[in-house]
Amino acid sequence: MKIFVMQPMPDEGIAMLKAKGYEIVDGAERADAVLSSLSKTLDKAFIDALPATVKIIANYAAGYNNIDVAAAKARGIVVTNTPDVLTEAVAEFTIGLMLAIAKRISETDRFIRAGLWQGGWMWNFMLGMELKGKTLGIVGPGRIGSRVGEMAKVLGMNVLECGPDDNLDAFLPKCDVVSLHVPLLDSTKHLINKARLKLMKPTAYLINTARGPVVDEAALAAALKAKQIAGAALDVFETEPKVNPELLKLENVVLTPHIASATLKARTDMAIVAATNIIEALEGRTPPNVAK
Ligand code: GLV
Ligand code: GLV
Repeated sequence: MKIFVMQPMPDEGIAMLKAKGYEIVDGAERADAVLSSLSKTLDKAFIDALPATVKIIANYAAGYNNIDVAAAKARGIVVTNTPDVLTEAVAEFTIGLMLAIAKRISETDRFIRAGLWQGGWMWNFMLGMELKGKTLGIVGPGRIGSRVGEMAKVLGMNVLECGPDDNLDAFLPKCDVVSLHVPLLDSTKHLINKARLKLMKPTAYLINTARGPVVDEAALAAALKAKQIAGAALDVFETEPKVNPELLKLENVVLTPHIASATLKARTDMAIVAATNIIEALEGRTPPNVAK
């Protein structure tokens, strides 16, 4: 069996494939499985060009919006992802972003590095928001969103959840922090747009560790500039690695380069899950994480 591995990953996953006697190759030609990378787009043209030997595309990520699942299904290729094992890493990172924006941590780090810190300790210097008693709105209470909610409760926050059948317009005005945890689908593209940003409190923060296109980035930059909301913390962007240049100019924005799941534990476990999905499929069983 030949496995086309599109991106380097922790050896634990690769070792499982090698232990089965599979060969790691760097092209799709005569491949039996593709271990795909989130930073590659596997559209219909890519999938239709795969050889008939390919039985599975195992994405090395929880999200699989980079893959045309319908096109794969049409060719009898199963698509899998790596959920669960990154839940803790992403939930912790989300809480980290919330603290970073509410407590102005990256803003003030920049301030010190720029040599701007003149005074000592002043009562009203760089005031942030206290989270206890505030309302965190989880948009998309799946595995990650629910875990973020649990962690936020420990901080004394009130947690509200907005599922796909709930009224987001009625939900947003209630939240002091809005955290996005929906997959990227046609129905969630620009879910947070100009009109919805207007529904948020002027004191509210927006956190996005889901997918960039869930937020209209230009509308967000405009809303932040107009002080329609207090700030945003973003790990994902509409056209990575590009970031809307207006966002780069604003102090009340925390920006991180799509690293919410970047712990060695999560990334190792993701490699093991991806390898397991491949082995199960190539041995004729249904892999544990079939994408829908
Ligand atoms: C990362 O964004 C993932 O979906 O795993
Ligand atoms: C802050 O450093 C305080 O002591 O209140």
